[in-house]
Amino acid sequence: MKFFIDTANLDQIEEAQSLGILDGVTTNPSLMAKEGITGQKNIIDHYLKICDIVDGDVSAEVISVDYDGIVKEGEELASLHKQIVIKVPMIEEGVKAIRYFSDKGLKTNCTLIFSSGQALLAAKAGATYVSPFIGRLDDISTDGLDLISDIRDIYDNYAYETEILAASIRHTMHIIDCAKIGADVITSPLSAIKGLLKHPLTDIGLEKFLSDHKKGS
Ligand code: E4P
Repeated sequence: MKFFIDTANLDQIEEAQSLGILDGVTTNPSLMAKEGITGQKNIIDHYLKICDIVDGDVSAEVISVDYDGIVKEGEELASLHKQIVIKVPMIEEGVKAIRYFSDKGLKTNCTLIFSSGQALLAAKAGATYVSPFIGRLDDISTDGLDLISDIRDIYDNYAYETEILAASIRHTMHIIDCAKIGADVITSPLSAIKGLLKHPLTDIGLEKFLSDHKKGS
């Protein structure tokens, strides 16, 4: 399973990269705004900074919602750097644009996926990734992990190459459950990734090993 970090915060991206487990980054307009990155030039510079830190795919989201606008914006984003993946919302115009990008060999991430039907359509259009938002489904008392399972079944039935990029991860158990189901990628806040490191028996065991070593020396 690939690990992406879901942030536009450069310090956190660097920290995840230094762990040696990072495969990519996802951003969205809200995450950029959270870091105070506004204005086209600053946004572009920020994507380039992210691409400098990480080796893998970096999702950059379009703001346009009409076909021509999505195509224009997406091509501009893709031309910035070979690591850029065009993030396109799951709307009718977005699906058409994904087909266009796919035919041109450009990578896409179809975002705001909340149903298996949407994921099926995105795969048919040739999306590289689909992003089902599991945390936001959980927030409205609908099991987000069920959606990951359903999409896994559908994609396996037809050997779709579109990768399931589980998004809107809220906590460490989401990552483990996505791995059990067979999501291809998770995109997560750094805190949930670092949660995977922790076990009290590891801490207790290490403390004992170190104190025993001290006694013997
Ligand atoms: C996915 O690419 C989105 O950036 C993200 O996972 C949304 O997560 P949220 O529901 O925590 O905003």
